[in-house]
Amino acid sequence: MARECKQILAPPLCLSTSWLRAGRIRAMRHRQFRKSYRAFFGGAIGLTLGLVLLLSGEGLFGQNDLTALPQFGSNPNKIVPYVPTPPEVVQKMLELAKVGQDDTVYDLGSGDGRIVIMAADKFGAHAVGVELDPDLYKQSEDRIKQMGLDKRAEILHEDFFNVNIRRATVVTLYLLTSVNERLKPMLEKQLRSGARVVSHDFQMPGWQPEKTEEVVDKNGLSHKVYLYVRP
Ligand SMILES: C[S@@+](CC[C@H](N)C(=O)[O-])C[C@H]1O[C@@H](n2cnc3c(N)ncnc32)[C@H](O)[C@@H]1O
Repeated sequence: MARECKQILAPPLCLSTSWLRAGRIRAMRHRQFRKSYRAFFGGAIGLTLGLVLLLSGEGLFGQNDLTALPQFGSNPNKIVPYVPTPPEVVQKMLELAKVGQDDTVYDLGSGDGRIVIMAADKFGAHAVGVELDPDLYKQSEDRIKQMGLDKRAEILHEDFFNVNIRRATVVTLYLLTSVNERLKPMLEKQLRSGARVVSHDFQMPGWQPEKTEEVVDKNGLSHKVYLYVRP
């Protein structure tokens, strides 16, 4: 470029032309960077929005579409992603169900075991979690042992559709509306009269909640808790 300049222009002007060219290249690179930046963040925002819609139960699959349940991870039976319930919401769920020492609490899709652990540790209940994900299963079992709660709490490494929940007096859920709908026949068949079902954020279609409460977590996010009592 310098040789090209020398032939056409006097040196000071040549210098400024080179600068102009360098400036144009910088501007071009900047535009390319902005384009990839927009593409990356556009994609990230799109993905996040998709997940939020999916979790709201209104997304890609629609609330009542039972034929096209989503899959998360390599296990096709893992049909809900791992999103933990904040501790203050866990507390409200267990309070709303009036969990006590005589209760057997089942958390279907128990994640890191936080509901099971709080039910056993703070509320004195017998608590059982059901978790398909091997890492979450191990993490929650280890925590239960570390806390010395293994006489009152346990995690089953199972698909929640295959578990016998007849012993449950309380069932906790943080799943999707479409998954609740699929679990409904099992809950209706196996749960005894008076058993409580508490669901975080997602309703049980066709059931009338006895109580609905709102909890604002420490990040200012609002959560709904639905309490159902089996007739
Ligand atoms: C939204 S998380 C809720 C975790 C926990 N109950 C809580 O409230 O913090 C849902 C959990 O369900 C588990 N899960 C999804 N499909 C499952 C299935 N078919 N059987 C057992 N667990 C499942 C996921 O691995 C995940 O940990």
